[in-house]
This record gives sequence, C-alpha cells and structure tokens, in this order.
Amino acid sequence: MGDVEQVEQQHDVEGDGFSRRTFIKGVIATGASVSASSYVFKDGSVVRAQAPGSVERLVTVTVNGQQRRVDVLPEETLATTLRYKLGLTGTKIGCDRSECGACTVLVDGVPHYSCSMLTHQVRGRSVQTIEGLEAADGTLHPVQQAVIDEQGFQCAFCMPGFVMNMVALVEENPSATRAEAAQHLSGNLCRCADYNKILNVAERAVELSRRS
Ligand code: FES
Ligand code: FES
Repeated sequence: MGDVEQVEQQHDVEGDGFSRRTFIKGVIATGASVSASSYVFKDGSVVRAQAPGSVERLVTVTVNGQQRRVDVLPEETLATTLRYKLGLTGTKIGCDRSECGACTVLVDGVPHYSCSMLTHQVRGRSVQTIEGLEAADGTLHPVQQAVIDEQGFQCAFCMPGFVMNMVALVEENPSATRAEAAQHLSGNLCRCADYNKILNVAERAVELSRRS
C-alpha cells in the first residue's frame, strides 16, 4: 500500500464518518458528474457552495409555456441553450453576432436576438420560439398560415426569425401597412433576398390576425 493511500485511509478512520476519499469513491461508484468547485465539506457532510461572484448554473426558464430547468454556462447564449440543450432547433443561428435576425425569439413578447442574449438574463422570464406558435389543437398561428398562403421564402433559413418578428408585429400593430412591416422587419436579413414575398407574408399575416 502506498504512503498516500495509507494516509487517506487513516483520514477515513479518523474522520467523523465522511471524508473526501469517501465522497470521491461514492461519486465514482454512482457515475455521478459533479463540479468539485461547487461542493464543500461541512460538519461531515457535503453541501453545495457558491463561490463569491460565481453564477448559479441551474436556470429555470419558461419556454413555450413550459418551465424548463437547464444547466447553463455563465457565458452561454439563449440561442445555444434553445438549440443544443433544449432541442429547439427551429431557432437558427446565422451570423451569431446580432446582424441577421435568424435567431429571433420573443422574450416576454418582445423580439430579441437570442444569439446575443445570455440565458442567465432570461431566468424566470417567458421565451417563445417558433415551436410554440401552433395551438394545442394543431391550428396554425396566423403568421404561420400566411407563410403557407404566400409561399414567402426560398431556402427558409431566415424564416423562423422573420416569423417570430412578424408575430410581434401583428401583436403590436394589428393594422400595420406594408411600409410599417418593412420597417419593423428591418432587423432581419434574407440571404436569398426574397423580401418582396416576405412582405406579402407580413401583409397576409396582418389580415389573418385581424380576422382571428
Ligand atoms: S444569428 Fe443572431 S442575429 Fe444573426
Ligand atoms: S429565404 Fe433563404 S435566407 Fe431567406
């Protein structure tokens, strides 16, 4: 038996029932994954510790009406969390730097570039993505129906961002004109330059929303 092991075993015997060695053995046995920096030993038991200035990684966010508890890194963007932690891949990442609008989602009803917002900023807030637009009975949101009616996109990579921004448009301005829609959507780019048809969609969405 090596010196180190002997010393550690001695700690096991001399300690008050719970040693670092016991804890590590337990973690290995259960296959649990922990961050050692998040735990301390106190009065013989293991307790969570929050280092000064550190950020709690477990975040609760309401996404499409459901509370989701997710482990996020301090610098993780909302787009990353949505796509790669929650599997909501309808939200696209284009430029990843606030230029194209492909990642647009609604936070408390307001459109935001999710590539440029930290998930920690939306703790306890309500996020809506394109997956959350359809009603439970399968009825499409007026904006979704407008896309189908007008066949407004070519490759459609930009579509989820445009659609989410149009959802905000019809909420904010139920009688928006084509020009007002164009201004409202100016933060979204379409690399296929399908803007004429996209504005047809917006006009149709306004019309359908007024009717519904
Ligand atoms: S991916 Fe967010 S603005 Fe382009
Ligand atoms: S339809 Fe292709 S990027 Fe907009």
